[in-house]
Amino acid sequence: MIRRQFIAAAGTVLAGLLFATSAQAAKVYQVATDAAYAPFESQNAQQEIIGFDVEVMKAIAAKAGIEVKFTNTPWEGIFATLGTGERDIVISAVTITPERKQSMDFSEPYFEAKQLIALGHSSKITKFADLKTKKVGVQTGTTGDEAVQKLQGKTSPNIKRFESTPLALKELMDGGVEAVVADNGVVVNYLANNKDAKLKIVDDSSFEKEFYGIAVKKGNKELLEKINKGLAGIKSDGTYAKIHKKYFGN
Ligand code: ARG
Repeated sequence: MIRRQFIAAAGTVLAGLLFATSAQAAKVYQVATDAAYAPFESQNAQQEIIGFDVEVMKAIAAKAGIEVKFTNTPWEGIFATLGTGERDIVISAVTITPERKQSMDFSEPYFEAKQLIALGHSSKITKFADLKTKKVGVQTGTTGDEAVQKLQGKTSPNIKRFESTPLALKELMDGGVEAVVADNGVVVNYLANNKDAKLKIVDDSSFEKEFYGIAVKKGNKELLEKINKGLAGIKSDGTYAKIHKKYFGN
């Protein structure tokens, strides 16, 4: 091989290598979810993260042509991971609230929810106001926590905070709290899967409608647009309805 040919060949190889690495380096968006929240997000026996939110997010990603990777991330501090850049997206049954909107941006709503009260089956409590002076379990920093703070006062010693909602419900079963206030989907799912738990549900009309949104770092317009486009796409092509039906029936 003469020198010129060698240089040309070497150039071709180098270009190929550069192309391959840049193709491999396509951005993978890191997704945070607190996977102790069935049916929205939980871990199966193989430690895979599964659930309604996971399927919705994967369908959105496919529509938007982006890659996503899920990591189980504790609820406490989950939003901070957006600020540090450790994660790009939070999908974790997150209620869009005016307060949260100040520190992060949300997609269009993708799910409607509300709070429910879980009680021991022989409890005499019939409405939220009855919990004014009762020991109530909540997951720290959730909208359930906020609702009980409104009722009892921010510094109430009767608010018992847990790092996950299943832990709060376990405490209710063990008699450590008189009630748990948490998202409807999760409470209903827990009771359905723990038939011997001897719990019941009270629905109180004073609880406001909540809407779940997908959160990104404040100002990340580019990613938010992709998510919103993907979400609109899976709503209009029937994919969202299919996933919804799989998890919640009709
Ligand atoms: N929707 C409630 C909130 O945003 C609770 C969400 C908790 N999600 C979870 N994966 N633990 O405050």
